Amino acid sequence: MTQTGAGTSAGNFLRRYWWPVAAAADLDSEPVMPVRILGEDLTLFKDMRGNIGLIGDRCAHRAISLAYGIPQENGLRCCYHGWTYDTAGHVVDMPFEPACLPLKVKAYPVEVLGGLVFAYLGPPETQSLLPRWEAFAREDLDTRIRFVPLPSNWVQCMDNSLDPVHFELQHVVAVVAVQMLEVHRVEGIERQRIGLQAPPGLRGRRRQRRLDDRPSDRLPVHARGGNRRARVPDSGAD
Ligand code: FES
Repeated sequence: MTQTGAGTSAGNFLRRYWWPVAAAADLDSEPVMPVRILGEDLTLFKDMRGNIGLIGDRCAHRAISLAYGIPQENGLRCCYHGWTYDTAGHVVDMPFEPACLPLKVKAYPVEVLGGLVFAYLGPPETQSLLPRWEAFAREDLDTRIRFVPLPSNWVQCMDNSLDPVHFELQHVVAVVAVQMLEVHRVEGIERQRIGLQAPPGLRGRRRQRRLDDRPSDRLPVHARGGNRRARVPDSGAD
C-alpha cells in the first residue's frame, strides 16, 4: 500500500488520477525541470512554442539526464549530442545522423488548469477528463500556489488529512494560539483583541471555553509560550 511505483497495487490505483506536478508560471522562468511523481523520475519542459511535455528523465541515446535539456521550437534537445524529443517523447531530430530513427522515450499527457500543470501517468484506456473543480476552473479568484515537500509516505498524509480530531485540535487551535501569542509579544500589551473570529470548530457555547482556563501543559506544544497562554477571541453572535 505504501509503494507507488509502476506495477505496484497502490501505484496502479493512484495512476487512475491526474496529479499536479508544477506551477505553470514556474515554467516561464525555468522551462526545464526534473519531476519525481509516483516513484518515477521525469522531465517537465516547455518548448519555445509553449507546448508542455512530461517525458522520461533519460535520453534514449546515452542516458544523459534530460533535465539538462535545451528547449527548442520542436521540443527538448538533449544537451549531449542534440537528439530532440517532442512532447509525446518521440525523437524528432538526430544531428549528425543520416536519418532520424523512430525512437521514443516514455511520455505522459499534461494539462494546465487553475495555474497548475496536471499529469496523468496511467494507461490511456482509463484516462479520465481532468476534473474541472470550481476552485481550479473559476477565473475570478486570486490564486496562490505553494509547493511544500512533505517528507513522509502518502498514506501518512492521507491518514492525517482524514483525522478530524487531529485537524481541529492541532491546526485550528494552534493557528489561533500562535496569532494571539504574536499579539502578546508586543511590549506593554497585556490583553488585546486582534479582531479574529474564532474558527468554526471553536464556536458554540460549549466550545467557547478560553484556552487559558486549561492547564498550559494540555495545550498543543505549538500553543505553549512560557508563561503566556493563548486566548481565543470572542466569536460574536454564534
Ligand atoms: S546522450 Fe542524448 S543525444 Fe546523446
